[in-house]
Amino acid sequence: MTKTVNTTPYTDQKPGTSGLRKKVPVFQQPNYAENFIQSIFDSLEGFAGKTLVIGGDGRFYNREVIQIAIKMAAANGFGRVLVGRGGILSTPAASHVIRKYEAFGGIVLSASHNPGGPTEDFGIKYNIGNGGPAPEKVTDAIYAHTKTIERYKIADVADVNLDAEGEQQVAGMTVQVINPVSDYAELMETLFDFPAIRAHLAGGFRIVFDAMSAVTGPYAKEILENRLGAAKGSVLNFVPLPDFGGHHPDPNLVHARALYEEMMGENAPDFGAASDGDGDRNLIIGKGIFVTPSDSLAMLAANATLAPGYAKGLAGIARSMPTSGAADRVAQKLGIGIYETPTGWKFFGNLLDAGLATICGEESAGTGSSHVREKDGLWAVLLWLNILAVRKESVVDIAREHWTTYGRNYYSRHDYEEVDSAAANGLMDALRSQLATLPGRKLGDLTIEMADDFSYHDPVDHSVSNNQGIRILFKGGSRVVFRLSGTGTSGATLRVYIERFEPDATKHDVDTQVALADLIEAADALAGIKERTGRTEPTVIT
Ligand code: G1P
Ligand code: ZN
Repeated sequence: MTKTVNTTPYTDQKPGTSGLRKKVPVFQQPNYAENFIQSIFDSLEGFAGKTLVIGGDGRFYNREVIQIAIKMAAANGFGRVLVGRGGILSTPAASHVIRKYEAFGGIVLSASHNPGGPTEDFGIKYNIGNGGPAPEKVTDAIYAHTKTIERYKIADVADVNLDAEGEQQVAGMTVQVINPVSDYAELMETLFDFPAIRAHLAGGFRIVFDAMSAVTGPYAKEILENRLGAAKGSVLNFVPLPDFGGHHPDPNLVHARALYEEMMGENAPDFGAASDGDGDRNLIIGKGIFVTPSDSLAMLAANATLAPGYAKGLAGIARSMPTSGAADRVAQKLGIGIYETPTGWKFFGNLLDAGLATICGEESAGTGSSHVREKDGLWAVLLWLNILAVRKESVVDIAREHWTTYGRNYYSRHDYEEVDSAAANGLMDALRSQLATLPGRKLGDLTIEMADDFSYHDPVDHSVSNNQGIRILFKGGSRVVFRLSGTGTSGATLRVYIERFEPDATKHDVDTQVALADLIEAADALAGIKERTGRTEPTVIT
């Protein structure tokens, strides 16, 4: 029933910021997915007879790879597989299921916010037993195996029925098809004050949630409409589609433009939100105000004790280096730890496991907490709703009061997508070579105070991660950061992160791009973006 198939290595299976991501036709090459999955198993030890969780965001090719992964798990000696019905599990739900059932680990099929379809993106990531993305030592080992792989093991059996909940046997292994939503929804009920939110919604507080035809549709329908009583129709685009309806399931101001327009309109609902392809990102828009993810992290942390799950207070806050310093000011006031990590959720795992941080966030629309080991889009939405239900103020009022108390960190990210890789690397190399000479240099009214290539020393396992992005800090707390994306699938994406701290509450009403204009100009002057990339404007501004 089990066979061993000879294979030869592919040279391009190096996992990026969040697993292996490639175009679907790349994954459809003979043995491509099999090689990577076998390399995952070959890097692990001690899983015989244990449980593996498998699920994905429902994108094109999801079902095919789920079948392969189940059959390979059986052949490699796992004892049980838990798989979401229809092959569906959002990334945070998968993390929770791994933890709740004490699984050995999980395979999550997703390319997050990247488009889906026959010629679009697909991805495979491995999560370890704590429910979080595999740390670098595991992904490095996986990559090493992909370079020397000679065979893989797979059960030679018929496909599993993914659409009926319950148990089946596959080559001596038990496959349990589970409801993808219920465990997660139950967890949310333990963290948040559902009765308060329900009462607030019943009192006329209007919400809209755009699931972007991606995985959060069934979760949001169940939680927001069925359990919390939001008006039917509050959840838009709730059917997960293999190609996300042709859209880019990235909840930002470009790809969720319609939601943004609605929230800025005359008769806007009180609260608008969206999530991405696999359900780990969030977009938060109040009536008339977009809350940047960096601000959202700070505001959620400042108000978290209003939710029952966090009533005892936070142990600490962690943010990725490019995320604004708004959360630092909250941590300072609360007298708790603040941790600055490289980009990518995997770096939060140790801090959460060690109990050093409770809430974590990234500027890229990721926020989450110790309840799972992934960022969690719906969690952020529910914490906002819990805070709004208790404070009974508008998002705008909460944001203004926050800025008055802590000061405002104007913040924006400029992305230059599909740039020529050599040009992008050249730009970064040139910046790196200038680092030593930058301090003291003036650009208009700005004076550079410090410049470095960010290096992270993990306080828990003492591992060191170098070259995590170039930081240029100016006197007064302004900052520009440059890094190349680790999740793209074609060419290079240059990300430029721009931030200015404004303590004066009378200056909190300026348009963000205007408030950052001198820094945007300084970034170009320092890196020669226009000249080196040939681009006159960013592809996406968030
Ligand atoms: C991007 C984001 C990063 C996030 C990752 C996975 O990675 O910037 O914060 O953790 O997607 O969602 P990047 O493409 O910048 O490497
Ligand atoms: Zn995602």
